[in-house]
Amino acid sequence: MIRTVATTPFDGQKPGTSGLRKKVPVFQQPHYVENFVQSVFSSLEGYEGKTLVVGGDGRFYNREAIQVVLKMAAAAGFGRVMVGKGGILSTPAASCVIRKHKAFGGIILSASHNPGGPHGDFGIKYNIGAGGPAPEKITDAIFAATKTIHEYRIVEAADVDIDTLGTTTLAGMTVEVIDPVADYAELMAQLFDFGAIAKLFTGGFTMRFDAMSAVTGPYAKAILEGTLGAAPGTVVHGEPLPDFGGHHPDPNLVHAKDLYDLMMAEGAPDLGAASDGDGDRNLIIGRGRFVTPSDSLAMIAANMHLAPGYKAGIAGIARSMPTSGAADRVAEKLCIKCYETPTGWKFFGNLLDAGFATVCGEESAGTGSNHVREKDGLWAVLMWLNIIAVRGESVADIVRGHWATYGRNYYTRHDYEEVDASAADALVADLRARLAELPGQSFGGLTVERADDFAYHDPVDGSVTTSQGLRIFFSNGSRIVYRLSGTGTAGATLRVYIEQFEGDSSRQDLDPQSVLADLIALSRTLPDIPGRTGRSAPDVIT
Ligand code: G1P
Ligand code: ZN
Repeated sequence: MIRTVATTPFDGQKPGTSGLRKKVPVFQQPHYVENFVQSVFSSLEGYEGKTLVVGGDGRFYNREAIQVVLKMAAAAGFGRVMVGKGGILSTPAASCVIRKHKAFGGIILSASHNPGGPHGDFGIKYNIGAGGPAPEKITDAIFAATKTIHEYRIVEAADVDIDTLGTTTLAGMTVEVIDPVADYAELMAQLFDFGAIAKLFTGGFTMRFDAMSAVTGPYAKAILEGTLGAAPGTVVHGEPLPDFGGHHPDPNLVHAKDLYDLMMAEGAPDLGAASDGDGDRNLIIGRGRFVTPSDSLAMIAANMHLAPGYKAGIAGIARSMPTSGAADRVAEKLCIKCYETPTGWKFFGNLLDAGFATVCGEESAGTGSNHVREKDGLWAVLMWLNIIAVRGESVADIVRGHWATYGRNYYTRHDYEEVDASAADALVADLRARLAELPGQSFGGLTVERADDFAYHDPVDGSVTTSQGLRIFFSNGSRIVYRLSGTGTAGATLRVYIEQFEGDSSRQDLDPQSVLADLIALSRTLPDIPGRTGRSAPDVIT
């Protein structure tokens, strides 16, 4: 039986770059999930009788939210829901399933790399039939609907068993519980040279993959250990836990420090890798050599023709604006375009759909290709394995060789977290107002060449997205970028991105923080970060 329930709008149900993200207790308020899901359905058209894909990263409240989505999808008139067993689907796997089964769209329950548990974060995101995050037009419509909602529709029924593979019905709608790994693993086998990678492992290649007690555990175990023959125990923290074992499932040098320390120590394995809460981010560390995400994108782009799925070469590269220019140098050499987009994966969708770009990446540990419409952590790891296997070189050799050929873009990101939101807004607004007067000014030997507020003109649909970050370029080719995070759940996070090119191979293997010291100092004084935020140093340096 379908029940229509009276409700009232909640403040702030505005989906950001990665869907709606809030603390768990916010989602636990009566009608909160229902309001948002109804607003999603209200902003869509023509889904009756069609398929919806549903799954999440297994975090706390995943199961409860999935039951609500199932009952509301049935009430809305979807014909079928495909749900990952146990409610599990990594974000890239969800994208893969949506595309493969030509679903109308999908709902992904995740707050990505944010901590989970009863006091952690939760999130809901809608993906379109192409498999990628909903474009602004839809998220705006969802937000508008959350402001006027007065009722939602839900089926009154017992909870659906999502732990048994197979098909059941819910008020006339088919519920198909699927193996969360199968479709994804099949796609990976098509893209990569599994024979060469398996040989690498047989030859004694060693690896540690840290799934951070998040969603990639089952995927990594099945593919790396099960199919490719990596030694049992290669995958650590391989069970998805509702609170990720109390850790931050963010594969960076702070939250994956154990892995980093292992990789820098005597007797380290050949490759260390990790992924985040929902499986779309990646961390790549060779023995004694961390690969920055910006460099990883460039190195993958330069080598990905070695993987069978990309043997015809790549059409173009896309990177988010704050990502370093390393990929641009590869594009130049390959005589292809490198597109510069605003932060957030959704901006890559059009470029991939139109065939303008084959590979894309962000400095925030996201890398992916046209195989799905999300960034894909395990894909990046398999790509590195494929490249290592074919080239027969270590990660460290590949990195050094790349820099010698293309030069090195020294790069760092400094994050000032949980800053007072109005102070952060004012800092950015005041700097924005000063942009026009900066060119020509010198700051201790660094002369500003140009400065702007990044705006993106989508070459596919012609849309324009403004105010995507303040960029200051210096005459020696260096750059500082400022932007506010769109994914935080407490206060504001100011991100400062600092970059400088080095073409001389004898100076390419130095510590980035030292090489960039002058720019870093300037990045703080220019907008007076200490005075305005009370912070003399960033909280996180990557
Ligand atoms: C962050 C990253 C961005 C990424 C997003 C979702 O967004 O910087 O590259 O697309 O998470 O994973 P931000 O918090 O900077 O808005
Ligand atoms: Zn993620």
